Amino acid sequence: MISKIKKILDKKNKIKILCLTAYSKNFAEQIDKHVDITLVGDSLGSVLYNYNTTKKVSLINMIEHSKSVRPAVKKSLMVVDMPYNTYNTNSSALKNAKKIIQETNCDAIKLEGGKKIINQIKYLTRNKIAVMGHLGLLPQTAVGKFKSKGKTIKETKQLIKDALLLQENGVFAIVLECIKSSTAKKITQALKIPTIGIGSSINCDGQVLVTDDLIGLNNTNIKFVKKFIDIKKFINIGIKKFADEVKSKKYPSKKYSY
Ligand code: KIV
Repeated sequence: MISKIKKILDKKNKIKILCLTAYSKNFAEQIDKHVDITLVGDSLGSVLYNYNTTKKVSLINMIEHSKSVRPAVKKSLMVVDMPYNTYNTNSSALKNAKKIIQETNCDAIKLEGGKKIINQIKYLTRNKIAVMGHLGLLPQTAVGKFKSKGKTIKETKQLIKDALLLQENGVFAIVLECIKSSTAKKITQALKIPTIGIGSSINCDGQVLVTDDLIGLNNTNIKFVKKFIDIKKFINIGIKKFADEVKSKKYPSKKYSY
């Protein structure tokens, strides 16, 4: 695990770091071959469960999906999001992080926030838990419509301060979500550890997306999401063939019968 993290750190300023979400083994199997980090993100709340907020995602949700993902992740670093309300204090953060790691055998965990949760981050890293940070738009605590961050000098200064604080306290990388390009650049340049952007421009050391978004499985009109393939087309072709063959009694033929 340490060597996987070292490989990721070594890519800063050289090679772009790739991260994608996976919530189940079939997806993880395909993703693991291509990425440095497989993230079991709490975005599964909206993508799979139709929750209108990630606040509703439970520890059990995260653990069960991570258990499905784990056997398929061979090459990349497996990171699991700690859900909302599971790291309010040092002791709850450590208890819940240990539970996630013990039950899922993941390599690291991710927490949203900067200064406000720095005591918990410090406590986790001092207890030898590998932690990934997350700054900018923080879906677990955001109120109202999601807005991009780092647009004012004040916000930019705070983001840089938070990023440096996370680095000082041992996080190995930071997700930057929906941060203005020039601000993401400043943060990335200020850090020794890598930044992984989502909606935060090319100025980050790596990129992360929700896999269901990039393959066009999840309906979304978020500005930063590029649909790299329309997977629904292929799914529909397969399902239509099945329906046609059942209706025409072509399937199941002898070959598929006992
Ligand atoms: O929950 C998630 O999937 C995430 C990524 C989008 C960064 O945190």
